[in-house]
Amino acid sequence: MSKNICVEIKNISKDFAVGDQKIRVLNNINLQIYSGEMTMIVGPSGCGKTTLLSILTGILTPSEGDVIINNTNITKLKGDKKVDHRRKNLGFIFQQYNLLPALSAAENAAIPLIADGISLDKAVKQASIALSEIDMSNHLEKLPSQLSGGQQQRVAIARALVHKPSLVVCDEPTAALDAFTGQKVMETLRQSAMQQNRAVIVVTHDNRIFDFADRIIEMEDGKVITDKVISKNLS
Ligand SMILES: Nc1ncnc2c1ncn2[C@@H]1O[C@H](COP(=O)(O)OP(=O)(O)OP(=O)(O)O)[C@@H](O)[C@H]1O
Ligand SMILES: [Mg+2]
Repeated sequence: MSKNICVEIKNISKDFAVGDQKIRVLNNINLQIYSGEMTMIVGPSGCGKTTLLSILTGILTPSEGDVIINNTNITKLKGDKKVDHRRKNLGFIFQQYNLLPALSAAENAAIPLIADGISLDKAVKQASIALSEIDMSNHLEKLPSQLSGGQQQRVAIARALVHKPSLVVCDEPTAALDAFTGQKVMETLRQSAMQQNRAVIVVTHDNRIFDFADRIIEMEDGKVITDKVISKNLS
């Protein structure tokens, strides 16, 4: 079966200006990321992983090169079009869960649907289903401050998946979690890649979760140095 390309990263370079100097943080990166796979990006602190994620989600503009997501060149999109494309196609998960403290778990998870114009009632219902699928049915009404770290991360996962994006990007999603909870989070993400033919990209330092990867891309000094397909079949 041929694989569907979800993201194409073409000749991406990024320079930051620091004082009167220009520092090259990403140096001519070329990658294709496939739907239905969990791709991990690893490498030492400062090698450019978060910068690469920010470029491929359109949050940062590259100095050179193009990012194509689902056949749309996002580097050429401007303003609202860029925001709309990101909102429809992408889900985000971060180390810090970034939940809104005054909203319940279900309301937090409903945010992408509300942003898409779905009524509050309907959005919260749909978000509650997404949360129930990941063992959170007893916590729908709770505020983030009433939830454990693992439970908050599950709300963040439901929020990232609720609008069925074709790409989910995660920056250190398990860094704040214990080993068991981290494994659960990764199982959910992996299932979401496999069952919904979604591309999931996970930036991580956490070697406890490498087993969940279909592919591991290693970066160093702003470059890709290895790109390994992992031949095994976890269920
Ligand atoms: N806005 C900025 N201005 C200047 N330099 C920056 C900026 N953002 C990042 N950098 C530099 O770019 C390099 C790559 O940073 P990045 O955050 O992508 O690393 P990382 O691989 O995600 O590291 P970590 O594993 O610690 O999160 C670092 O040297 C960082 O200091
Ligand atoms: Mg980082």
